[in-house]
Amino acid sequence: MSIEDKLNELKEKEKLAELGGGKERIEKQHKAGKLTARERINILFDEGSFIEFDKFVLNRNRDFGMDKNRVYGDGVVTGYGKINGRIVYAFSQDFTVFGGSLSGAHARKICKIMDLAAKNGCPVIGLNDSGGARIQEGVESLGGYADIFLRNTLYSGVVPQISVIMGPNAGGAVYSPAITDFIFMVNKTSYMFVTGPDVIKTVTHEIITKEELGGASTHTKKSGVAHFAFDTEEETLIMVRELLSFLPSNNMEDPPFKPTDDPIDRIDEDLRYIVPEESNKPYNIKDIIHKIVDDGYFFEVHADYAQNIVVGFARLGGNVVGIVANQPEILAGCLDIHSSKKAARFVRFCDAFNIPLLTFVDVPGFLPGSDQELGGIIKEGAKLLFAFAEATVPKVTVITRKAYGGAYDVMSSKHLRADVNLAFPTAEIAVMGPDGAVNIIFRKELAKSENPDEFKKELVADYKKKFANPFKAAELGYIDEIIDPAYLRPKVISHFESLKNKKESLPAKKHGNIPL
Ligand code: HXC
Repeated sequence: MSIEDKLNELKEKEKLAELGGGKERIEKQHKAGKLTARERINILFDEGSFIEFDKFVLNRNRDFGMDKNRVYGDGVVTGYGKINGRIVYAFSQDFTVFGGSLSGAHARKICKIMDLAAKNGCPVIGLNDSGGARIQEGVESLGGYADIFLRNTLYSGVVPQISVIMGPNAGGAVYSPAITDFIFMVNKTSYMFVTGPDVIKTVTHEIITKEELGGASTHTKKSGVAHFAFDTEEETLIMVRELLSFLPSNNMEDPPFKPTDDPIDRIDEDLRYIVPEESNKPYNIKDIIHKIVDDGYFFEVHADYAQNIVVGFARLGGNVVGIVANQPEILAGCLDIHSSKKAARFVRFCDAFNIPLLTFVDVPGFLPGSDQELGGIIKEGAKLLFAFAEATVPKVTVITRKAYGGAYDVMSSKHLRADVNLAFPTAEIAVMGPDGAVNIIFRKELAKSENPDEFKKELVADYKKKFANPFKAAELGYIDEIIDPAYLRPKVISHFESLKNKKESLPAKKHGNIPL
């Protein structure tokens, strides 16, 4: 056989591999509004940059007639390519081959590229479209899942891991994504559940649709399992590329610098008027964020979940920062179980990947109520405290208005090793709000007073003068600088520049024990 003949044979085999489960199943996939594994790869990576591994891998299973039904690649496309010019490893499950289900061979392919990604310090992206463990294979596929989970765990905090859910993902197919850093879903065509609606109906007689049980809306708004959802697969994959533009390739690198024309000394007088004079009036913290970050561009994470706290990425003078901000517009910006967990996970991600933290504080405290107490707010709120305390990346905190009670401590206070703590002149830093404080401290005096309403007004005014301002905290050095809000952008950029070479470590230990 000449080399030309051999090359032709290779091409034929490659064509066969690329056909996956065959034309009919590809059409079915398209009809369901889904792209094929390879079409997705083409959108995700810079054009022509993807290099495939293990195209001819076959499964070794002989049971249930599987030896007569072997497909090159065994239901997953793996390899590496470039995203925004940087190397990224990926696997893309092919639903046209046994529903993208995971066999031993399929798992080994995924493990191979995960190991390469970790060794070479590159992110890993999983495009998940899988019916879970390949039922015909039994324990080999279960073992395959555990092999992946182990790698997800070992490489957590070493390289960014991103999961994209692009079909009905069941059983083991949801646990690997759960360990990764970010989960993207596609509205109306992607689902995640440990046990599907049919099993639930059989076991508990509960009737629920797969959309209600595990659709994108459920997971981005209610369960908080997923961070992002978009309407089409194309849009979703493009947003994965966008997220990566904020992340370093591994934990030894800094996030990518992106030059900007937005002046670093830009001042904005509108910033003086966003926080309302009335302490109980809501405002949107994102109005402040948009005004100070480069080109007003804020890439929000987990936008639809626990909206009383806002988290996401932005750039300041070209440098990436992670932003955590109480949102006075929702639940007055209270901390509760969901918002504490959401922010804690984000803070830990930023800390693991050298992304400095900018925290905005306007928090009246923890949300009171039996739901919260019985749901474990003590433990859940402590997660955020733990995460901020443990974080060694540069930390700048800005108190815009309320910083009351334990929430003052939690929200990246000086006491939790924040490097620079700033306050607007509108800041109110105290154990609690004036009304509550006066009611407690002067309960007896108020009861005895002939004109309790008038007396209370005086006491509240006095308390406000004493405590509802940033000066007491500044006196103690807990606030480094009280700033004119108009100068927020240049101030914050300057402080982060001063922290560029920050080195801080934790006491020697195997690992801490965050209250899980
Ligand atoms: C082998 C599978 C499969 C699986 C689907 N297929 N899931 N083959 N193992 N797990 C095959 C189907 O037989 C079918 O083959 C093709 O994939 C497409 O499946 P359909 O059912 O036609 O598609 P759809 O109607 O879209 O439904 C998709 C689905 C459903 C919701 C994923 O297939 C399903 O419920 N599958 C089983 C899910 C499951 O219980 N998995 C095991 C979980 S246990 P043909 O030849 O007709 O195209 C698990 C344990 C791990 O994962 C635990 C680790 C912690």
